[in-house]
Amino acid sequence: MDCIQWLSDYCPDKIVEAKKAISQVKTGSRIFIGTGSGEPQHLIRTMVQNSELDDITIYQMLSQTLADYVDDESFLRRFSLKLFFISLAMRKAAFEGKIDYIPAYLSQVPRLFYRKRTGLDVALVQVSPPDRFGNCSLGVSVDITRAGVDNSQLVIAQVNPMMPRTSGDSFVHVDEIDYLVLHEEPLVVSLPALTETEVARRIGRYVSQLVDNGATLHLGFGQLPYSILKYLDEKQNLGVHTHLISDGFLPLFEKKVITNKKKTFLPGRVVASLCMGSEKIYNYVNDNPMFYFRSSEFVNDPTVIAQNDNLVSISSALEVDLTGQVCSDSMGYQFYSGLGDQVDFLRGSTMSKGGFSIIVLPSTTQDGKTSRIVPHLSEGAGVATTRGDVNFVVTEYGIAELQGKSIYQRVVELAQIAHPKFREDLIEAAKERHYIFADQLPPQPEDLLFLDGYKSTMVTKNGQSIEFRPLLASDELASRNFFYSLTKQTIYYRFFHNRKIFTHEDLQKHLATLDYRKNMSMIGLVRNRGNLDVVATGSYGMVDETTAEVAFIVREDRQGMGIASYLLGVLEKIARENHYKAFSAYVLRENAAMIRVFKKRYPNLKTSREGGDIEIHMDFDDAVSS
Ligand SMILES: CC(C)(COP(=O)(O)OP(=O)(O)OC[C@H]1O[C@@H](n2cnc3c(N)ncnc32)[C@H](O)[C@@H]1OP(=O)(O)O)[C@@H](O)C(=O)NCCC(=O)NCCS
Repeated sequence: MDCIQWLSDYCPDKIVEAKKAISQVKTGSRIFIGTGSGEPQHLIRTMVQNSELDDITIYQMLSQTLADYVDDESFLRRFSLKLFFISLAMRKAAFEGKIDYIPAYLSQVPRLFYRKRTGLDVALVQVSPPDRFGNCSLGVSVDITRAGVDNSQLVIAQVNPMMPRTSGDSFVHVDEIDYLVLHEEPLVVSLPALTETEVARRIGRYVSQLVDNGATLHLGFGQLPYSILKYLDEKQNLGVHTHLISDGFLPLFEKKVITNKKKTFLPGRVVASLCMGSEKIYNYVNDNPMFYFRSSEFVNDPTVIAQNDNLVSISSALEVDLTGQVCSDSMGYQFYSGLGDQVDFLRGSTMSKGGFSIIVLPSTTQDGKTSRIVPHLSEGAGVATTRGDVNFVVTEYGIAELQGKSIYQRVVELAQIAHPKFREDLIEAAKERHYIFADQLPPQPEDLLFLDGYKSTMVTKNGQSIEFRPLLASDELASRNFFYSLTKQTIYYRFFHNRKIFTHEDLQKHLATLDYRKNMSMIGLVRNRGNLDVVATGSYGMVDETTAEVAFIVREDRQGMGIASYLLGVLEKIARENHYKAFSAYVLRENAAMIRVFKKRYPNLKTSREGGDIEIHMDFDDAVSS
């Protein structure tokens, strides 16, 4: 049976014109309005046009339609807007002080309604037409709307056939609604403008290095997280548990990159709270059993999020300071967006087995003049995410890993991913604040993206994966731990004396010589429950224009697995690119393993004696590739 006919039979008195429904709202009311794509635009316009209404307080999450009125003084006298998040459409009004902002985590907003901390009199919402049992769907906007409906004395719903029907906790029975206004109109369309910039591409590449196949994704609000989604299109069996679904997900749904098969919580389903985007995504979601919409106190609850193993949260920030404090809701004193879902998902992902979070941000403002990695947050900026919550920070210059790291390490990690032109100033500012030693060198001033090409992975004879990459300033602690884990004999073989100490100064001196061209150091890393342990190093340093001296250390438990042989090949390739023609090395006569490694690759190597050592000369032209 036609659903309108069904309504006319079941509850004819509830079907009214918008004017009639709005006339039931009293002056002084506190009105909840559905979020974003769930906005009942027709009801909102009718409400504003009703000149009898005065002193109305509006509570809303993402507000779009009311943005048309915020420059009208008479509107502002009658309506006071309190928003849980500042949408792009409302940003100017927020900067001008025309609207009010409520900082609250999305997981907790419904509780404000249920506990009457925020009292509500009226809910204006939008629903799909009912099914034959009388269930309308809150469709693409369940988020805090469900709680708004549950806690308002008077519920007025715009029944819009264009509202998709979704499953989950989205159904509202017509018995729960006081007035039904039948009005069809397109939903609010709002897309985070996706950017195709080089910065987004590079950030996407780094994020893709962190996300494993089978991970479950959360994407925070804003344009950048959605812009980088497409760089995950080579992954397999990703899942989604997120607050907001937008068009950025579509290519991954269509290419079956997102299958939700590996999810440990609600497998097979995309769990979400809100969908905002174009008609395309609304059509995709409509009646699609893959989507499971629940209210934000469920979707954003960290303990629920944590039931997903390998939950990776990707969200953006406006500024990150050198200690790891993240500002995402204000620009100085100006409120810019909202606390939203970031903290909920950072906490949930940290609690998830194998999960972690990534904060993404371009290293500078759009004009390139200001660093977004800063010694201290701008005056007035709020800390949305504390130092204790952050795992990874990614810019177009790389990945900083902060979790469990000291202030010293954080400074070096973050300076390393700042724009090269700001690195020296950041290091100087950190020295002034005594965050780091006075002799700390800034990370290389140039863009080290070319080092990405120097990353590789080998599988050892016993099937273990070892990742190789150039040594960075932030590897200080790991290098130190590596050194102190070695036996006396290994150290003696490498340094020719019983070196006992490997200080901060020693590493600074070594890093000072590294230019990643004429002087190079590589490290080999093994994953140990999410941590990366250094198990090998290999370096070369300039002797003259054509020759570099090479040296290696492999941790004892990994020796004899082909690591040094592999690393020698890697170093030779880089050395050739930098116009060297040969390696030299000093080796103790009894160091049969090292000599064997060299001989295998350079059967015609030349040796000469130097006391107890042998000096070895190896021409690249004689190399036997392995
Ligand atoms: C020398 C060193 C870097 C080699 O690293 P590694 O990863 O174990 O080397 P590989 O596994 O690639 O190759 C070692 C080769 O030596 C052989 N080998 C090991 N011990 C040997 C010995 N006592 N006599 C003869 N050959 C030996 C291995 O069998 C292997 O050869 P293969 O590939 O033909 O089987 C490592 O032993 C080390 O760190 N030693 C201490 C530090 C040092 O001596 N550094 C060199 C300073 S220049």
